[in-house]
Amino acid sequence: HNLASLNTLAVPVRASAYVQARSREDVVEALAYAKKHSLPVLPLGGGSNLVLTRDVPALVLHIRLAGIECVHETADDIWVKVQAGENWHEFVCHSLNQDWYGLENLSLIPGSVGAAPIQNIGAYGVELEAVVQELTAIQVDSALPVTFDRDSCEFGYRDSVFKGRLKDQYVIVDVTFRLSKKPRLQFGYPALASRLDAVPHDNVTPQAVSDAVCAIRREKLPDPTSIPNVGSFFKNPLIDSVRFDALRREYPDIVGHPTGGSQIKLAAAWLIDRAGFKGVQQGPARVHERQALVLTNPGRGSGTEVLALAARIQAAVWDKYRVRLEIEPRVYPPEDRKAI
Ligand code: EPU
Repeated sequence: HNLASLNTLAVPVRASAYVQARSREDVVEALAYAKKHSLPVLPLGGGSNLVLTRDVPALVLHIRLAGIECVHETADDIWVKVQAGENWHEFVCHSLNQDWYGLENLSLIPGSVGAAPIQNIGAYGVELEAVVQELTAIQVDSALPVTFDRDSCEFGYRDSVFKGRLKDQYVIVDVTFRLSKKPRLQFGYPALASRLDAVPHDNVTPQAVSDAVCAIRREKLPDPTSIPNVGSFFKNPLIDSVRFDALRREYPDIVGHPTGGSQIKLAAAWLIDRAGFKGVQQGPARVHERQALVLTNPGRGSGTEVLALAARIQAAVWDKYRVRLEIEPRVYPPEDRKAI
């Protein structure tokens, strides 16, 4: 099965086997098939955080489960259970239309609802973990459903237990969100605040926040349907404040934000940009002109070619700042992800 249209980096590779799951039963059946044929399973949502380096020696399990259902409500809050195959941004729009709030900062993020918790999607000052109540995942080995509450997801910055300790062991089939019936707006993130500057603060609505986020994203980030990409290619590195102060003496306009503890989150985009990579093309891959943290694949080359540009950037950033950049999207097969 050709996967070119199923990964937003548009890498033209094939899968050993491919199946769509529209229900939990389909997932269970697919897991049994994979076991019988000794195939690993690669769950696939929107394919928007995935770098495929060669033909996929696995059963690609395309998660298409659909449905949005209110499971509980109080005067202030509502609990909404969403099937994993729903499109993330469509769910955000649906929730705004229903006057359920809390997702507006996460507007226009590509991908599916089921994939969102894996990397704890986050943007413009809000991370998914703030709104997750629990999720259901089917254990690959036993084919049994398990409920994870928010704590057992072990969320971190662009991280969860499903990327770490329990990697490849579960298939997420639904996520329950706790949303608010009253707006609780957060628009302190500098780019968002300045975009909303013209609006008197008391008049800012959740829809206005969503519209502003969409406008910023459309300005800075390439639309994967026209220029293949997987969003930010690296995580923003965390360094301690002593090292940050030393770097700032050398690079006074370096961008970093405190994280609450003694660590500073450096803007990887700034490091890459100032290392001279904006707009740099290597083979089919290119550093996006308007956001240096985003690598694109306009030449529709292989994941390996995109990773070669990533490795060059990692080496240059290390040489210049002695800072290690960690690749954010999932590389598959995992052995093709070289540690730098
Ligand atoms: N900057 C540059 N050069 C650039 C782009 C940005 O110097 O080419 C500087 C800007 O001046 C800005 C700073 O870098 O002060 C940060 O840039 P931006 O606000 O665009 O955010 P980011 O840290 O680069 C993160 C997320 C994005 C998310 C934005 C907004 C990660 C890995 N990325 O990017 O998430 O949309 O914040 O919250 O944390 C994604 O994960 O795929 C993604 C797009």
